[in-house]
Amino acid sequence: MVLLNPGPVNVSDRVRQALLRPDICHREDEFSELLHRIQSKLLKAFVPGAESDYVAVVMTGSGTAAVEAALMSSLPHGRRILILNNGVYGERMSQIIALHRLGVSELKYEWTVRPDHEKLLLALRQHQEVHVVGMVHHETTTGLLNPVQEIAEIVDSQNRVFVLDAVSALAGEPLDIAKSHIYMVAGTAGKCIQGFPGVSFVLVRKGFVEKMRSYPKRSWYLHLTHYIDNEGRGTIPFTPAVQVYYAFDEALDELLEEGVSNRVQRYKRMATLIRDRMTSLGVKALLPADRQSNTITAYHLPDGVTYQSLHDRLKQQGYVIYAGQGNLENKIFRVANMGALTETQFGGFLDAFEHACKPV
Ligand SMILES: Cc1ncc(COP(=O)(O)O)c(C=O)c1O
Repeated sequence: MVLLNPGPVNVSDRVRQALLRPDICHREDEFSELLHRIQSKLLKAFVPGAESDYVAVVMTGSGTAAVEAALMSSLPHGRRILILNNGVYGERMSQIIALHRLGVSELKYEWTVRPDHEKLLLALRQHQEVHVVGMVHHETTTGLLNPVQEIAEIVDSQNRVFVLDAVSALAGEPLDIAKSHIYMVAGTAGKCIQGFPGVSFVLVRKGFVEKMRSYPKRSWYLHLTHYIDNEGRGTIPFTPAVQVYYAFDEALDELLEEGVSNRVQRYKRMATLIRDRMTSLGVKALLPADRQSNTITAYHLPDGVTYQSLHDRLKQQGYVIYAGQGNLENKIFRVANMGALTETQFGGFLDAFEHACKPV
């Protein structure tokens, strides 16, 4: 099956084979070495040249675990988090904070609109109680790319902490974490890194780690300094999904061999291939080209075509597309181009799509 959903993604045989490595105990040196390899590859891939300024915290759990861990571990007592919310995953950040009864401050936007830095600047000047600003890099809801660098500059200029959900962006979009002074970036193995779901991570700026130690512990499983202390000793506080870590390690090797910027360019080329053909078929994209990411395109459903019928006809041919969420549920479909897929496979999908849109 060719997966055109934004994770889990199709992985290479090499990554799949890594699942078959020997059973090991996570309290033994073999696991410490595996963990250490993963951490150093993450730093090499995502903060090249600034590896010693960041720590990579690896945990068992999907991307949401990393986002929740970053948010919950970044807030001193009595301060607030401001979320820039323009999609399902920005909304989720707000919901996480609300659930912990920390009070949510939000700048909320339409799902097709980017957060604007002037409003943010004003909000940060007016609300000194805000300590952290949270935003999603790539809003998977619509395929919208948020302006990370501009927002990071405002957050940094106002001496606040920036927490970025880059779960669907890392290895798919260019991002200079160190240069943008981003304190925390949440990511996952199972999207553009082309590993399996089940392991996620937070890249944390070292200078911030010491401050975090004095913040309240709000979760047993997701308290970042607990991981940092354990991982510093080569271990992990909870039983890890060892086999998924093996595959993650292999996927990181593949990423470093390909090169992060080459991976980004490959995804961009595949997105262009899809977009050009869809345009020639008269299928309308939800977003203008300058807001689109490299890895997802949201399209209006062609007239007279329901999502379910389109999905089912494509699935019969071996292609899985993705539905819209929330109020876009019955209006759009999404095509992701993450994962170990070839140009030929995308070509096959586009032929099948053209066929599926014809009346039966
Ligand atoms: C931007 C973003 N953040 C967070 C998540 C949540 O990740 P997971 O489903 O792995 O928990 C997703 C999932 O698609 C996402 O796209």
